[in-house]
Amino acid sequence: MGKSIEEIKTQALAELETVSSIDDIKALSIRYLGRKGLVTLFLRDISKLPEKERPAAGKNTNQVKKLLKETFDRAESLITERAVSAEKGIDVSLPGRPVSAGSFHPVSLITEQISDIFSRLGFNIAEGPEVETDYYNFEALNFPKNHPARDMQDTFFVSDDIVLRTHTSPIQVRIMEKQPPPIKVIAPGRVYRCDSDLTHTPMFHQVEGLMVDEGISFGNLKGILTSFVHQMFDEKTSLRFRPSFFPFTEPSAEVDILCVICRGKGCRVCSQTGWLEVLGAGMVHPAVFENVGYDTARHTGFAFGMGVERIAMLKYGIDDLRKFFENDINFLGQF
Ligand code: DAH
Repeated sequence: MGKSIEEIKTQALAELETVSSIDDIKALSIRYLGRKGLVTLFLRDISKLPEKERPAAGKNTNQVKKLLKETFDRAESLITERAVSAEKGIDVSLPGRPVSAGSFHPVSLITEQISDIFSRLGFNIAEGPEVETDYYNFEALNFPKNHPARDMQDTFFVSDDIVLRTHTSPIQVRIMEKQPPPIKVIAPGRVYRCDSDLTHTPMFHQVEGLMVDEGISFGNLKGILTSFVHQMFDEKTSLRFRPSFFPFTEPSAEVDILCVICRGKGCRVCSQTGWLEVLGAGMVHPAVFENVGYDTARHTGFAFGMGVERIAMLKYGIDDLRKFFENDINFLGQF
């Protein structure tokens, strides 16, 4: 006899390493296990061995035959699977792609924080429509037709009488029409203005606030807003109220907070003033109360409105408003 069965096995397995197709494996199988294959011939030659060596040699050879058959079959199905996957464009050997859980948008996160703070101060949360009538967006808020104050609002008109709301203030009117005082609500939502540059986007977010009851004063407004700013930023962030004008409040104020970057020293963010404007506010104008049928002799109230993006920029140190709306996943994933 020539080679031992062990040598034949080693040789067959080494040759298997070099195959790349089903045909190669078929040929290999024939060369070793076919009618005139090396293993088959070896098995036949066992009869020529001395009688007492035959059983062990037969057993060994049959084991090798079985092993080779199984190994060749496995190799064949592996090649078939790869071919099918390649045809489907799937590479089963690649690691899986992680499924991203996503994250909340910074504007949503800040809206949530603002809502939480005011909820703890006893405010309810309300909503209103984004497509508004001229009446709710302007008229009821004491902006008469052709009043120059409408100019500031860069309005998108849907028709002569229908607009995309330019602020969340119309929700004040809708709430007061529905219920009598006392009222303590905030109303977050999207607003639209026909304006687009470094610091303005045509859609942005506001949170409106309204508190009406007997004996509500400017002092209450200051107290609530101070508490809000201290919770949103920190206790060292002081506020200042500057006289201003809004048709629906009298007196009206613009509220600044001490610059959260330089703490009042003056920097690029606060344009060297040490202060940052964050919201508009005031005591509800009697004309607005009259429009909703409230008794102006009995009830007073305050209102305020703030830009959510503005707060988010200060809170997270973001310097470009447009980043919020570019949907860059690397940016949005950081919050
Ligand atoms: N609605 C105003 C705006 O968007 C902001 C505002 C100012 C809201 C004073 C108020 C307020 O409720 O009292 O320009």
